[in-house]
Amino acid sequence: MNQVATNVRWHHAAVGPEERAQRLGQRGVVVWLTGLSGAGKSTIAARVDARLHARGRHSYILDGDNLRFGLCRDLGFSPEDRAENVRRLGEAARLLQDAGLIVLVAAISPYREDRARVRERVPAGHFLEVFVDAPLAVCESRDPKGLYRRARAGEIAGFSGIDAPYEPPDAPDLHLLFHADATSPHAPVDSSLPHAEAAEA
Ligand code: PPS
Repeated sequence: MNQVATNVRWHHAAVGPEERAQRLGQRGVVVWLTGLSGAGKSTIAARVDARLHARGRHSYILDGDNLRFGLCRDLGFSPEDRAENVRRLGEAARLLQDAGLIVLVAAISPYREDRARVRERVPAGHFLEVFVDAPLAVCESRDPKGLYRRARAGEIAGFSGIDAPYEPPDAPDLHLLFHADATSPHAPVDSSLPHAEAAEA
């Protein structure tokens, strides 16, 4: 039986975002890193998390790979499953953001529509989309898990960038662009942060 719950209602907490922000000294925000496999999303998230932690900030990483071991373990890589995966990541991120955390999400999240839905679920100004933009050739040459090689060999079907789509953001809040000869995500050649003030808010 798979019925949608109807007799439910929203319970408001006595502690609101302002109280939490005062206690933590920060406002919750979702920083959503999207890009191809091997683009450097997880590496960047881990470094940002470590730096925030060192500066006394409260942050947490939701990594697409990791959540597929638990919350999303029933999902594969069809467009429908990816949509559900991104939805669950978005809902988890939203809860942690509501709790006041700086949430770093690292997921391919290849479809614009799925990412847009997440943005709509997070309070305005508290969602930043970061495009980790390494060209397919760069990701493929890095191939840290050997997945591109296996996808090219026909051992993995529906691999993002090979035989499944990746839709880049039209207007990301931050665009990290890597050179075609970049071997690691240490130094993007170009970045722009039109809404930098939102991250500091
Ligand atoms: S998605 O598209 O957002 O639902 O994907 P995500 O949850 O981020 O998981 C991506 C990681 O899964 C591995 N993997 C694949 N990626 C893309 N396509 C296919 N078919 C696939 N199969 C397995 C891969 O390790 C991805 O990790 P990253 O960190 O992105 O390299």
